[in-house]
Amino acid sequence: LFDVHAPMRKLSAEIGEKADEISKLWRQKQLEYTWLRSLMGVHADFWHVTGDALDYALDAHGVSEPGLKDEIMSLYLKLDAYPEAAAALEAVKAKGKLTAILSNGSPSMLDAAVRHAGLEKLFNMVLSVEDVGIYKPSRRVYRHAMQKLQIHEAPAICFVTSNTWDAAGAAQFGFQVVRVDRFGLKDDRIPGKPAALIKDLSELAALV
Ligand code: 2OP
Repeated sequence: LFDVHAPMRKLSAEIGEKADEISKLWRQKQLEYTWLRSLMGVHADFWHVTGDALDYALDAHGVSEPGLKDEIMSLYLKLDAYPEAAAALEAVKAKGKLTAILSNGSPSMLDAAVRHAGLEKLFNMVLSVEDVGIYKPSRRVYRHAMQKLQIHEAPAICFVTSNTWDAAGAAQFGFQVVRVDRFGLKDDRIPGKPAALIKDLSELAALV
């Protein structure tokens, strides 16, 4: 839904040619820290984890300009939605479906991103792992969505993600999964297969 590499792209003039590599390492560490903290049983919210991962990535590339971290983090609260997202959500809603976000993001991060992208009216619910205290792909997170949405059969939920590991986790849990293959990635070799692969969200409404 949101382009997590947009903040670093916006600052690429300031950061230079390393911006792309830093952004990739930042995202990788951000995700690793969610999995590691979940295994260790030491939860911290996604804002904290995102900041730790950014510290790691900047340090690994020898970047230490004062104020830069805060500048990047503030752009993370204004992530761009992918250009087709709003129309795709409207098309899904036009079919009478409920729509919800189920994200690692903390409630304040999600609130900021959804508002910035002008998507508030297109979601019936915005759910955060903060209500559960553990990250995806814990089954507890997917179960939380069923409870909040009051949906009693897992396959009645169509879960959409561009994360291969989240696609596997949600499919293994029992959701029907559509993976948005934005990055040309193969399915992960762990249990759980997406039911469909699409190139971007414009193909979604035809599947639900
Ligand atoms: C999420 O927002 C990690 O992108 C994933 O839940």
